[in-house]
Amino acid sequence: MTLTCGVDIGGTKILGGVVDEDGGIVEELRVESPATDVEAIEKAVTGLVKELGSRHEIASVGIGAAGYVDKARARVMFAPNIAWRDVDLKAELEQSTGLSVVVENDANVAAWGEFRFGAGHDVDDLLLVTVGTGVGGGVVLDGELFRGAFGVGAEIGHLRVVPGGLLCGCGNYGCLEQYGSGSALVREARRAASGGSLLARHLLDRAGGDAAAITGPMITELARAGDPFCIEQLRDLGRWLGEGIASLAAVLDPAVVVLGGGVSEAGDLLLDPVRDSFGANLTGRGHRPLAQVRRARLGNRAGLIGAADLARR
Ligand code: BGC
Ligand code: NA
Ligand code: ZN
Repeated sequence: MTLTCGVDIGGTKILGGVVDEDGGIVEELRVESPATDVEAIEKAVTGLVKELGSRHEIASVGIGAAGYVDKARARVMFAPNIAWRDVDLKAELEQSTGLSVVVENDANVAAWGEFRFGAGHDVDDLLLVTVGTGVGGGVVLDGELFRGAFGVGAEIGHLRVVPGGLLCGCGNYGCLEQYGSGSALVREARRAASGGSLLARHLLDRAGGDAAAITGPMITELARAGDPFCIEQLRDLGRWLGEGIASLAAVLDPAVVVLGGGVSEAGDLLLDPVRDSFGANLTGRGHRPLAQVRRARLGNRAGLIGAADLARR
């Protein structure tokens, strides 16, 4: 069985793995992402691929990159949360690893992974939404990954949802990513905690009294334990995402919407509010089928599994 390597480069972590033809992970490695240092990212990815390659026969490498990847699946033109500016990641990684490399957007590869082996295996049309440092989108239509004319379609995190709203890493104001991402979740929780809100006291205690030490996983953990403030933070996030997804469904009409990324680990604490606000905002609601909202079945491995699968095509 031929093995390929998949690597998912995100804003906070780099996840790599050796994957078989059925999407099974043979071995997996994880390192922190030096998001502001492009050379350090390349070094980290090279090291990771070489280490995996020392133990397995790897045929090719698929990279999921959190940015705008060109149609040739080679260059990262731009990224809102990573310092990539017109970087030929394919050429550089081919040179450093000696293997053939394809580069694709991180949410696109996650959509592909879930379509092939995960929560979207039973449908032909799906929208995947990743909720992490940013908000990413991947679209499979009629069983094909949608990429747009220049490779950069499905940038759903940069839908304007608030005219004149918060400044985004992409340079625009009011993007969905500023309201529906893991970063937004943490920002709002920190703001409430450092502003002295008694509602956030439990969370602040959990962070050792330092609002800046609050993390996404802490919010999820307390929400699971029933903390009303943390539950509400996830509900607010879900509301933004559900509204955004309703607008997207007006165009795409997916059968299934898959939620992935770190924050989706909150499960129904995030998904139920997404379902509610999606159902309440979808155009024609009550008179048309409602897409199911499912959690990514491959979890945070969807990207590396999808990238590894694209590397064999
Ligand atoms: C980027 C996307 C990426 C997403 C998730 C967004 O800010 O524009 O390219 O897919 O974050 O990482
Ligand atoms: Na995308
Ligand atoms: Zn933006």
